[in-house]
Amino acid sequence: MKKITKAIIPAAGLGTRMLPISHAVCKEMLPIVDLPAVFYLVEEAVRAGITDILIITNRDKDAMEDFFDLSVEYGQALTAKGKTKEAERLYEIANMANVYFLRQKETKGLGHAVGRARSFVGDEPFLVLYGDDVIFSEDPVCRQMIEVYEKYGKSVVGVKPVPLEQVQKYSSLKVEAIEGEERVTYCTDMIEKPKPGEEFSNLSILGRVLLTPEVFDIIDALEPGAGGEYQLTDAMKKLARTEGVYALEFIGDRYDMGSKLGFLKANVTKGLEHPETGAEFREYLIELAKTL
Ligand code: UTP
Repeated sequence: MKKITKAIIPAAGLGTRMLPISHAVCKEMLPIVDLPAVFYLVEEAVRAGITDILIITNRDKDAMEDFFDLSVEYGQALTAKGKTKEAERLYEIANMANVYFLRQKETKGLGHAVGRARSFVGDEPFLVLYGDDVIFSEDPVCRQMIEVYEKYGKSVVGVKPVPLEQVQKYSSLKVEAIEGEERVTYCTDMIEKPKPGEEFSNLSILGRVLLTPEVFDIIDALEPGAGGEYQLTDAMKKLARTEGVYALEFIGDRYDMGSKLGFLKANVTKGLEHPETGAEFREYLIELAKTL
């Protein structure tokens, strides 16, 4: 079985739910305290053993590239000011993984964005981390997904049960139980953004998928789906009906950085944990809560 070493982070969406800021700064570069959202995605992949990451962009390529790059002058300026720890941190970030960038050129949907990665991926299974879905977990979700792939040798989609009224915003999966498995099911069908009555279940794909390279031929033959976009879910539906796909109910807390509320929640969570802000921020929140 091929070892999984590559991941794709599509980060080229329009980000309309985060307007007006997303007009100038892509949502994947929005900060969670002092790190951009995309840092947490790269970190998760690296913790799962991924060595090569392709970020699909349209705007903000420079800001992202700069963030994962090393500015020698900046590092020297920090060191000259005695900020060696900070300089070392930047060095660590720059050396986390081989990070590559590719422009999607036209914003035609998540399926189209993943399709651009064909030559990067080659003939290997790979992970996709949806650029606006930050997931905090002790055991990286990417690693949880790889474990399922290593057991079954098929594509894996990361899922969570969501309130039925929200399924219409995401996707809905048809699954069959597997004897002896608690969190893994066999997926036979799926639908992107189902209309009321079209749902299979309240299980939605949230932010992480592991795909076999057969998906690229399917993507190339895709027709526009929900919202007129080339939907990755439509490609994975074909994969489910032909090759078979497993669904993993992953363990982790997901924050939708593409929504204003998700952005705020992620910042509160990490702000409370951060060594520089945690204690004072907690006091501030306790006082604030009294006035609510
Ligand atoms: P979303 O559908 O959440 O992103 O796509 P969006 O289209 O930017 O969202 P809204 O509704 O307009 O706010 C999931 C991920 O896929 C990327 C997005 O950047 C996001 O991280 N994406 C989406 C692409 O890379 N290319 C696309 O054409 C569409």
